[in-house]
Amino acid sequence: MSVAGSVRAVTTLRLTEMKQRGEKIAMLTTYDYSTAKIVDAAGVDVILVGDSAANVMAGYETTLPITLDMMIYHARSVTRGAKRALVVVDLPFGTYQGNSKVALDSAIRIMKETEADAVKMEGGEEILESVQRILSAGIPVMAHLGLTPQSIHKFGTYNVRAKEEAEAEKLIRDAHLLEEAGCFAVVLEKIPAALAERVTKELHMPTIGIGAGGKVDGQVLVIHDMLGITNDFSPRFLRRYANLHDVMSEAISHYVDDVKNEDFPNEKEQY
Ligand code: KIV
Repeated sequence: MSVAGSVRAVTTLRLTEMKQRGEKIAMLTTYDYSTAKIVDAAGVDVILVGDSAANVMAGYETTLPITLDMMIYHARSVTRGAKRALVVVDLPFGTYQGNSKVALDSAIRIMKETEADAVKMEGGEEILESVQRILSAGIPVMAHLGLTPQSIHKFGTYNVRAKEEAEAEKLIRDAHLLEEAGCFAVVLEKIPAALAERVTKELHMPTIGIGAGGKVDGQVLVIHDMLGITNDFSPRFLRRYANLHDVMSEAISHYVDDVKNEDFPNEKEQY
């Protein structure tokens, strides 16, 4: 929903139609109001309020510590800035695994308190009951398979997932189960391009890739990475579209110099 209470221009149905037409879906993470306005106006179709906020906003090593209250704060800020893009919010670690009633309560809090359009959940068959319960309350769910960072302590590494046949077969099974349950899209993170292509061909719901090659229905990146605000994370799949780290550092150093040299403010910059 938009701030005015009307449905945003990009809906879950529109994403399905885009897949049918072969039109690619552009998705990007965002965590605050001012950036959401820029991202939305630039034509991004889906804004993900990702739990990667734990890393790039809060400085945690993993996504596990971020809480539901923190996600709601970020999501509420983003939905005030997004008029067109569909806004999807990550359910954080510990708010949906294992207990479908808790999962439903978490999803309802996000929908009621943030005016977002959908939630995203990591995992397959293990979380199916929670996914079904949330869907049955009329809340759209985006799935997330492959590298699922909330399970980092189980994997022990951020390397490519599903390279072995057994894990690839499970991923395909999970994707079908989640589609049959009624998910409207699935993120495929860091899996072989050929596997992502196969899943994309077999599913009716759109697939959104991150490190999953080009034969998927859309792409997602973490905005701090693609804008080059972070400069210490360079996986093969990441394309940097700017070097804001250097732009910001230079501007801030310049400001510090101007203050120290009493060059700022000048006569025109005062009352
Ligand atoms: O939290 C996040 O940013 C994500 C994307 C990497 C898909 O889940």
